[in-house]
Amino acid sequence: MPFTLGPSAASAGYRLVAFNQIGSTNAEAVARARDGERGPVWFVTSEQTAGRGRRHRAWIAPRGNLASSILEVMNVAPAVAATLGFAGGLALEAALRALSVEAISRSPASDELKFSLKWPNDVLAGQRKLAGILLEAEPVGGGLAVVVGIGTNVVAAPDGTPAPATSLRTLGIDVSAEALFSALSDSWAEFRNIWDHGRGFAHIRRMWLQCATGLGQAVAIKSGGTLIEGIFETLDEQGCMVVRTAGGRMVPITAGDVYFGSAASAGAR
Ligand code: BTN
Repeated sequence: MPFTLGPSAASAGYRLVAFNQIGSTNAEAVARARDGERGPVWFVTSEQTAGRGRRHRAWIAPRGNLASSILEVMNVAPAVAATLGFAGGLALEAALRALSVEAISRSPASDELKFSLKWPNDVLAGQRKLAGILLEAEPVGGGLAVVVGIGTNVVAAPDGTPAPATSLRTLGIDVSAEALFSALSDSWAEFRNIWDHGRGFAHIRRMWLQCATGLGQAVAIKSGGTLIEGIFETLDEQGCMVVRTAGGRMVPITAGDVYFGSAASAGAR
């Protein structure tokens, strides 16, 4: 089955470039933007050989997983563009929920089949990472090239990752990368519209908080050599994670590795 856009994405004017294999769909999107591509256009594959993760890590995935990047050149400040990643998490969560109806009806009480969003940009199934999002932005002629790269573990999850991972196949959700992409492209079109160049971020933020994992829980964030510990209070209007420290200070976090629960005291060290 080839990759195709969903009907809403196609009628909204999105385009699609699909590859049998490529180094990184994010790198391809950035290179095309430098060459004058304005989007909105998706770059997709079911096999990356040089996938990029957040914090300069590699994103390793076997053939059959979904690597998808949406490129759009827009006139927004980089700080506003950064909030588009939250729309990406919501779009993927909505697509996954729609495709999991059958699996959920077989095991309605299963915690493993509950999808949630982990700050900044992971999609979890139960407590395990199912997908990650890497947002990259670069000024080009005519605006800021914004690339939201979404990697989803469809057929397999990597071993030995800092946070435990899972895949749709492990969860008993029988869906291909191509079918997932079609659903994702439609839900992206919906949440991208709500986001509306950042004007709709207040709405995105409210929806994101409803899907968030770890709100009100102990959290530790490791960023470079710094460790911040406290309670995950909220997401602020800029997309920062707000942590209340033991001394009552509210600290906005812009980046870092996030650990909840027992991992907040053990894993972060
Ligand atoms: C993370 O570290 O959790 C983010 C991973 C993002 C991976 C996706 S796969 C599609 C796109 N292309 C890349 O090279 N990376 C992103």
